[in-house]
Amino acid sequence: MNITFRQLKVFEAVVRHLSFTQAAQELHLSQPAVSMQIKQFEEAAGLPLFEQVGKKIFLTHAGKEMHHYCRNIAFELNEAQEVLEQLKGGHRGHLDISVATTANYFATRLLAAFARKFPDITFSLDVTNRATLLSQLEQNEKDIVIMGRPPPEMNLETHVFMENPLVVIAPPNHPLANNKSLDLADLANELFVVREPASGTRIAMQRFFAERGIEFKTGMEMTSNEAIKQSVEAGLGLGIVSVHTLELELETRRLIILDVNQFPILRHWYLVHRHTKRLLPVAEAFREFVMENADKFITNLEL
Ligand code: PGA
Repeated sequence: MNITFRQLKVFEAVVRHLSFTQAAQELHLSQPAVSMQIKQFEEAAGLPLFEQVGKKIFLTHAGKEMHHYCRNIAFELNEAQEVLEQLKGGHRGHLDISVATTANYFATRLLAAFARKFPDITFSLDVTNRATLLSQLEQNEKDIVIMGRPPPEMNLETHVFMENPLVVIAPPNHPLANNKSLDLADLANELFVVREPASGTRIAMQRFFAERGIEFKTGMEMTSNEAIKQSVEAGLGLGIVSVHTLELELETRRLIILDVNQFPILRHWYLVHRHTKRLLPVAEAFREFVMENADKFITNLEL
């Protein structure tokens, strides 16, 4: 198949926008030039890659297959370019990081410290839940990901760098607040405000109770730790969150940690990327920095 990188780039942009006009704008080309590149690309492929329905264009089955390979090629080219740039200039370049919602409580501090050490590196930080992180790893979209318990079946390279204890939180005036060594059974009548089903914290909490054959009552569901903490403070129920989200509330005594047997649920934080991915030097530097310095930037409590 005789295709050019230019055609590949044009094809990738048209797929992303599903529009010849928008792809043309992005690439600073005329619309006919984009149509011509796609026509030649389809001729080289020997099959139509797009179909038009009304005013909209869609990928054909062949187009979808082609897109899968093109994205990987475009990604590798980008990577090659960045590696070469960095060989020329030491620690400079761009780092594309994605972190679990809960990890954001310390990720920005880590990034700030890293940025002070390597001022020529720029970053994008995506804060999202576990399900999205897994899809980003699958699609090879990020340089490095910070998350809890990577799934073993996904062929990932993982480095554990910190414990992540999950605790039960309550408002200070809760009837169980002053009890010592509560049993799990003591929580049976309590309502829990929980994270969304795709959250790592939620999955860990469900697994913990299921393994012990205990049902727990869930009330409202929320997509952020901040919302959970505020709801618990307002008396909507108990919550289970990472201690890394609690620094401020514990200091100001707006929330307390209940003393429950078998708690904390012990999770860990991992730096993760696809096993087959060659880490860019900036990503490599970030990984080393986190492995060596994480404990200086993450407050862990004596539990
Ligand atoms: P979450 O992830 O923010 O999606 O709950 C945290 C974790 O995996 O422990």
